[in-house]
Amino acid sequence: MIDFPRPDGVPHDAHGSVACTAPSNIALVKYWGKHGRQLPSNPSISLTLSAAHTRTRIDYRAGGTAGLTFFFHGERTDAFADRIERYLRSIHDITPFVRELDLEIHSENTFPHSTGIASSASAMAALAHGLCRIEHDLFGTLADRDLFRRKASYLARLASGSACRSIYPTAAVWGAWNGLSAASDEVAIPMEDRIHPVFRSYRDTILIVSGSEKSVSSSAGHGLMTDNPYAPVRFDQARTHMTRILDAMAAGDLEAMGRIIEAEALTLHALMMTSTPSYVLMHPNTLAMIDRIRAFRRATDLPVYFTLDAGPNIHLLYPASAEPDVRPFMEDQLLPLCEDGRSLDDRVGHGATDTTDA
Ligand code: PMV
Repeated sequence: MIDFPRPDGVPHDAHGSVACTAPSNIALVKYWGKHGRQLPSNPSISLTLSAAHTRTRIDYRAGGTAGLTFFFHGERTDAFADRIERYLRSIHDITPFVRELDLEIHSENTFPHSTGIASSASAMAALAHGLCRIEHDLFGTLADRDLFRRKASYLARLASGSACRSIYPTAAVWGAWNGLSAASDEVAIPMEDRIHPVFRSYRDTILIVSGSEKSVSSSAGHGLMTDNPYAPVRFDQARTHMTRILDAMAAGDLEAMGRIIEAEALTLHALMMTSTPSYVLMHPNTLAMIDRIRAFRRATDLPVYFTLDAGPNIHLLYPASAEPDVRPFMEDQLLPLCEDGRSLDDRVGHGATDTTDA
């Protein structure tokens, strides 16, 4: 376990307000399966998104009853408050000062509700970032930017695994393997400086096949990996994919990277289908879109690839330079397969940002 400072002893008149935004992220090599205290069974890499993000403000005050109220889009939401309270209790050993504070949290997502876009990565990265800012305001312990981000990534991981990657701009790796000595199971690490500049303006259009709640949650899915007979082979494959995708991303080799991305997306869903009990989250229109994307690629030679997270929606990934060709294809052939023609245009972005003094 990383030995962060564990400040305690909040001055009794302490109070303040912090604010930040944190984006969602899309994994290219997928984290699927975990153990211990939210540790990944294999390494993963993601692109940090931008348009899909959470804005969070935390008002804090010492001397009360250490209560918590949570407002989502201005409405008091006790179910979320319970989840956050459980999380804060679970990290008391790392952030002991939190139990001395009353917290009022206001949070909102930029992406519409029920788009099927996981909000836990952005929400938990924003919360973790806010907690670090409070720690720094009270104790001055996190002046070093790298240390601040490491602690924010660590705390985000304990809330929702993939959230740890949303702290960093452009791209982040989470999970140790022998292909990258700096990689860690405990925190994500920034990859911006290790990948080709083409990724700074990379696009991700999220095509909403269904915005309904999925039938099996990601945490249940991770759990089912324990008895999945393919799990050991899968974890090996992920490590091989990580080493290869890092080479491809450093070189800006979008074809080599794209082959891995699509294999990863389909492997993730194959693992769901081979779990006991088995389940399928793709919809018929997910497969129809995959066919059309591959046919478009064959016809145009453009580096346009798809990925999926744990749901039926397609993430269409392409460089900014391909946008003029991709847009008419999308409008013509993909949007008609979306629920109510819905999609969300996103692109690679800057990671969690402090907006306290903005
Ligand atoms: O962080 P969780 O527990 O929501 O799991 C995320 C799992 C995937 O989105 C499918 C893959 C990933 O690496 O983000």
